[in-house]
Amino acid sequence: MAQTFDRHRRLRSSAAMRNLVRENHIRMDDLIYPLFVVEGTDIKNEISSMPGVYQFSLDRLAEEMKEIAEAGIQSVLMFGIPDHKDACGTEAYNDDAITQQAIRQIKEAYPDMVVIADTCLCEYTDHGHCGVLHGHDVNNDETLKLLGMTAVSQAKAGADIIAPSNMMDGFVIAIREALDEAGYQHIPIMSYAVKYASSFYGPFREAACSTPQFGDRKSYQMDASNAREGLREAASDVKEGADFLIVKPGLAFMDMVLRLRENFNLPIVAYNVSAEYSMVKAAAQNGWIDEQRIVMETLVGFKRAGADLIITYHAKDVAKWLRGE
Ligand code: PBG
Repeated sequence: MAQTFDRHRRLRSSAAMRNLVRENHIRMDDLIYPLFVVEGTDIKNEISSMPGVYQFSLDRLAEEMKEIAEAGIQSVLMFGIPDHKDACGTEAYNDDAITQQAIRQIKEAYPDMVVIADTCLCEYTDHGHCGVLHGHDVNNDETLKLLGMTAVSQAKAGADIIAPSNMMDGFVIAIREALDEAGYQHIPIMSYAVKYASSFYGPFREAACSTPQFGDRKSYQMDASNAREGLREAASDVKEGADFLIVKPGLAFMDMVLRLRENFNLPIVAYNVSAEYSMVKAAAQNGWIDEQRIVMETLVGFKRAGADLIITYHAKDVAKWLRGE
């Protein structure tokens, strides 16, 4: 019989054959694990909406870091949560505040761990917004100065990468100039370039105690309906000197991962955010889904879309699964 159709199944005939033609893989090198550090002592506090994710006090951080290092995780994203919050988020740029102490502690014990500092003010302000307020509006340019100071303080503490997530206009250039002036020309900026005003951050705000006390973040974070606007945001960050571009959230915005991949040659990072994690955990706890397969399929989806790196709360579980446990 003359061949009248294509035989795609030839390359799917056995596990070994499928291994040969697999286009994308998840490796531990691709994963970044978020870490929440709080003030106080003897705290390992599970976040109720994120089973398996904890807030740690500094004296218990070592046990978590040991687990992380043994899992083969090479990079962490630091979120510090201070007790003292005020209108200007002073603890963000205080060299002895919780975030800076945690960074120093991690770098001392694990000099090879790539420590990424989330650079934003919302964990540090009493109103929970990502910058300084004028009335009920976040003032862009005044906030830029404080972000620059925060980044420098984090770099001084030993952060290897600065990851600004506040979505002020001009934040990349403001931080780049501040870092350069302070002698940190070598520190890269991982910009949250395309960050949407999203309901998928709900559980994180419990973890980071950063829920806005009034209003929302829609005047600075992006409208979920827009894609072209995301390309304009990313183009600005590239022009201003970003070294990595983050898309956040990941799952509902995979098209943006692909669009950035097609338009820019910088490393692209997908943030598999808190509610994406919570939904999987809740369904798995109910026995409704196969957690491992759902997570691995999601993560490889990010790779297929064009992400180089994935920030994910599943990283420790992935390590176990990759080891075959
Ligand atoms: C800080 C910040 C947020 C997240 C990361 N950095 C919250 C927000 O912007 O409201 C969310 C991460 C997650 O949901 O996992 N601005």
